[in-house]
Amino acid sequence: MTGGSFSKVGVVGLGTMGAGIAEVLARGGLSVVGIEVGPEALERGRGHLESSTGRAVKRGRLTEEARREILDRIAFSTQFADLADCDLVIEAVPERLDLKRRVFAELDRVCKQEAVLATNTSSLSVTEIAASTARPAQVVGVHFFNPAPVMKLVEVIRTVLSDPEAVARVAELASALGKTPVTIGDRAGFVANRLLFGYLNQATSMLENGHATRDDIDTAMTVGAGLPMGPFTLMDLIGLDTCLEVLEAIHAETRDRRHAPAPLLRELVAAGLLGRKTGRGFYDHG
Ligand code: CAA
Repeated sequence: MTGGSFSKVGVVGLGTMGAGIAEVLARGGLSVVGIEVGPEALERGRGHLESSTGRAVKRGRLTEEARREILDRIAFSTQFADLADCDLVIEAVPERLDLKRRVFAELDRVCKQEAVLATNTSSLSVTEIAASTARPAQVVGVHFFNPAPVMKLVEVIRTVLSDPEAVARVAELASALGKTPVTIGDRAGFVANRLLFGYLNQATSMLENGHATRDDIDTAMTVGAGLPMGPFTLMDLIGLDTCLEVLEAIHAETRDRRHAPAPLLRELVAAGLLGRKTGRGFYDHG
């Protein structure tokens, strides 16, 4: 497998999504440079990659030798300067516009002129992020789904400023990595989250109003609607903080009350119960 017209790709931020994206790229045969803010975060990112590929070996999906090759394709660094010769950089830092704009300003400074800069944002405006660089035509959105190594969809976001060739190259990369790209305009929630999160929010309201229990709602949607996970299991996977951010962004744009975050969701986030990543959300993950 090759990465279309890209051969060296940087990933900024190695949390759940960034590490998953780095794994997908390295599995596809690309050279990857993974960047984190400091040594501790970098080690955590390396840990995500080691455990995810380790699980694949345990399940007999990957040989230990292939796993080594994948991990050897990833260089880890805390220095943005190490992105200088990347053809593409994918940013996957937390969903704060000021932070993403700072990262893009820095990418603009260190990356070669022809490099494409992509954001994995799920809720912020790609256009506003692009505007923090001197090369907005080279900035696109590339939205992976959680867990990135498993989920096939990649939303490729074009802004009014994007060069169609940069958009097409990123979509080709997604296909080359075995993903299914869809190309869409820069609207809050893009396509999948815009449709999915109204449902997740409504499930939370149903629970809050005593309409049904958590387990019965999850069972209804897995057994009755054939979904791989019920809404509460899925929100715990996504992270309740991310769910809240996505809903707030869609609500801010649409003012549609279906996207006004359910008070219970706010309460859980305020309490630090963020789902799997903190060990407890709608469920206790032990
Ligand atoms: N990382 C890497 N691989 C993983 C993984 C992870 N976090 N979780 C599961 N897998 C792999 C497993 O190793 C397994 O691989 P093999 O078949 O090759 O052995 C495969 O996925 C299936 O896993 P399991 O058998 O353990 O569990 P499952 O059959 O229940 O599948 C699931 C797990 C793929 C997560 C499935 O439940 C699912 O599709 N859930 C819905 C996920 C979803 O909707 N994601 C989108 C969320 S929205 C979003 O991400 C957008 C946003 O902006 C917030």
